[in-house]
Amino acid sequence: MSAFSEHNFAGQKALIRVDFNVPLDKQTRAITDDTRMRATLPTIKKILADGGSVILMSHLGRPKEGPEEKSSLKHLVPHLKELLGEGTHVFFADDCIGEQAYLTASMLKPGEVLLLENLRFYKEEEKGDKGFAEKLSKLGDIYVNDAFGTAHRAHASTAVIADFFPAGKKLFGTVMEGEVIAGEKVLHNSERPFVAIIGGAKVSDKILIIENLLERATDVIIGGGMAYTFMKARGGKIGSSLCEEDRLGTATDLLKKAIEKGVSIHLPEDSIIADKFAADAETKTCPSDQIPDGWMGLDIGPKAAGIFSEVIRKSKTILWNGPMGVFEMEKFQAGTKAIADAVAESTENGAYSLVGGGDSVAAVNQFGYTDKVSYVSTGGGAMLEFFEGKQLPGIAAIKNS
Ligand code: 3PG
Ligand code: MG
Repeated sequence: MSAFSEHNFAGQKALIRVDFNVPLDKQTRAITDDTRMRATLPTIKKILADGGSVILMSHLGRPKEGPEEKSSLKHLVPHLKELLGEGTHVFFADDCIGEQAYLTASMLKPGEVLLLENLRFYKEEEKGDKGFAEKLSKLGDIYVNDAFGTAHRAHASTAVIADFFPAGKKLFGTVMEGEVIAGEKVLHNSERPFVAIIGGAKVSDKILIIENLLERATDVIIGGGMAYTFMKARGGKIGSSLCEEDRLGTATDLLKKAIEKGVSIHLPEDSIIADKFAADAETKTCPSDQIPDGWMGLDIGPKAAGIFSEVIRKSKTILWNGPMGVFEMEKFQAGTKAIADAVAESTENGAYSLVGGGDSVAAVNQFGYTDKVSYVSTGGGAMLEFFEGKQLPGIAAIKNS
């Protein structure tokens, strides 16, 4: 039993910080991936079922100059109504701290929901302004933080606001609880062998997470564009593959550190190379350290996929962040698919697998593996920082108070 599930919300107005920062279609403003909205439904429904009412607050996008049409949370109202079902009354306030917001919040009846306008229409949100946090806090009787995706930000609504609620009146919701349990299991209670699969374009984004995982994992698999900086650091020829010249030294240091720690780093032995970055490119398979000039690696090759899959199959704990190639293009998705397959198989055989980071989650969804892994994180940047070993402000604000 968790603090959230044990709490009875009857007669209370729960102010929930959610991460409804969902991708919207540029033209129609329709939601293109509602994972983060669906993830919070158990939290919202439990409070409503208890006889409480719900006030939802979130940011959307990165508005810089106050209110703007394209970042309005009003675009989410129809879908929120659909997700909650016909019987639930959903109100919208077009200013998160305005008179209308207070009035609607104070008149909310048990079972009703109020969605507030974008918190980032106020600069005070990102600044972590105390006065703004206090104003928000007046909207509810109890604060629930369920925004794991934004937990790495020390903003007014994600962290500072917790100071305005006494102990027992600030809780994690089910998303936060689930993320923290899954993350801590992998970071502090992993069964070995423990493989970390790290992909994506840039080494610079993943240095800290690799460093921290070298302290904990038995194997680290490196794929995606970032693998070529490692290949070049080891003296390989990488043609015109992605390379962060200024990170060659970092890559060498990480490889050395892995040897010192007795962690096996697996780089892709071969690659699918292309003559241009395009869906209709000419392609061939080639050793990853002998890529001809004018060609670039856009996916791991079949040998690499086989070796990586072997490592994954013998692992008991699997952490996956970042795709193996440009999986959005059909010619370069076999590597990521093979990894998803191996992770699913290993999970079926008893391993614990956690997948996170926008692109890897999109890949897992696209290939239909969502229910075949143990846990899919709703965090991008937050998930990275969690596995870098950092204290996330959104977690600390409740846990340490
Ligand atoms: C995210 O999508 O990364 C979170 O919602 C946080 O948004 P931000 O990166 O704009 O702070
Ligand atoms: Mg982000």
